[in-house]
Amino acid sequence: MTRDAAVEFIDRVPNGAWINGTWSDGDGSRALVVDNPARGASMVTLAPGGPEHVRAACEAAAAAQPAWAATAPRQRAEVLRRCWSTMLDHRDELAALITLEHGKPLSDALAEVTYAAEFFRWNSEEAVRIEGAMRTAPGGSNRIIVRHPPVGVVVVITPWNFPAAMLTRKLAPALAAGNTVVVKPAAETPLTALRLAELCHDAGVPAGTFNVVSTDRAAEWFEAAVEHPAVRMLSFTGSTEVGRRLLRRAADRVLKVTMELGGNAPFIVFDDADLDAAVEGAMVAKMRHSAETCTAANRFFVHEAIAGRFVERLAAAMDGLRVGDGFDAGVEVGPMINADAISSIDTLVADSIGRGAAVAAGGRPLDGAGHFYAPTVLHGVAQGDAITTNEIFGPVAPVISFANTDDVVAMANDTEMGLVAYVFTKNLARGLGVSERLESGMIGLNRGVVSDPAAPFGGMKQSGLGREGSTEGIYEFCETQYIATDW
Ligand code: SIN
Repeated sequence: MTRDAAVEFIDRVPNGAWINGTWSDGDGSRALVVDNPARGASMVTLAPGGPEHVRAACEAAAAAQPAWAATAPRQRAEVLRRCWSTMLDHRDELAALITLEHGKPLSDALAEVTYAAEFFRWNSEEAVRIEGAMRTAPGGSNRIIVRHPPVGVVVVITPWNFPAAMLTRKLAPALAAGNTVVVKPAAETPLTALRLAELCHDAGVPAGTFNVVSTDRAAEWFEAAVEHPAVRMLSFTGSTEVGRRLLRRAADRVLKVTMELGGNAPFIVFDDADLDAAVEGAMVAKMRHSAETCTAANRFFVHEAIAGRFVERLAAAMDGLRVGDGFDAGVEVGPMINADAISSIDTLVADSIGRGAAVAAGGRPLDGAGHFYAPTVLHGVAQGDAITTNEIFGPVAPVISFANTDDVVAMANDTEMGLVAYVFTKNLARGLGVSERLESGMIGLNRGVVSDPAAPFGGMKQSGLGREGSTEGIYEFCETQYIATDW
């Protein structure tokens, strides 16, 4: 039943472009093949958009923006709230689409839809609370009025790991502030975004306000968008490497940007930590959504006094996970997104073993048609090995032991990334003290998950620019205008 509605959408989706409130003709001379990673086989071939579709979407967004910005905040809030309830009404269908195109277990996909929908509810509440200010100039001669109008047309580029949530985390605040949006979903997972465009339209989002153009050629898509004179902002989630390239090009048009980029999260376990809680937190921080998250713990630093026991328990928990097709009952870990992902994970694991790491669990790809990797624990890993400097984006936990606090803080900070860090200790003073020394935009203190629409999500250093969610999130999609007033 759940899967039927998703399959029905896949059977009827006419192409890969939703522009100005309707399906547009895609470029029939090209093919965007969407795979099912659990089978390693293609599910549907879409006609993607070409540069002319990107331009048409920007035109539609530009035409719709003044009226949307002029809509009363309360009315925008009500539209967003209907998007929230519409997503929940279609929770099963959207989750099945996510599992089909991404592969994550259905339970994770259901959780993602709830999480994604929550960005609409949260931002419907924020839409009516965009604050301004009025001050008397220090000299007393005039007033300073500050307001926050929308930026205008926003280009949104989303990754494949959360086909719904990484879109709504940008879309909802952008719409709440009065912007219109042109979205490029990841080539691997365009279906959820296309269905969401249709559902949001049904929920009252006006034509032209939310456009989706999928593509098999990302660079060409971006070029058409960045060159369009109506585009004023770029919001991107993806790797730091791609983010740097987009930033360089966005600089040519001085676009406003937000960037949610790569992570290399340290997970620190002190000798006084509650070991059960630390292992449970490690499993969530590592394995949530099949370990394909930028918040995933990438390096486990465990105090030498408890490292042996921690590795034993973590390995048992990883060995106990059921890996398989996300639709099968009891499956907790799905396939990786494609064959390249398996090969890059396995290269890092083999390199680490070659440098002396020992395997406590897993350590290899799994046989079969889909792209599966065994949940893996490595111990005796050396800080500086490729597995500690690259984002693994897969179900591998490298464990490094440490002896003192200064050393572990130095190792944790020894990366150009600074998205999230996790700290486990029963001593709150130590936990907060270490948290303040970590160069990281988010900290999970005795918690393996930080994601929350009500909290500011984002990184320090090369993990990004700006914050998504919370009260900060909506202001990223606003300008600041000051009016010097005399009367
Ligand atoms: C991400 O992996 O990009 C985001 C993870 C999250 O929001 O939990």
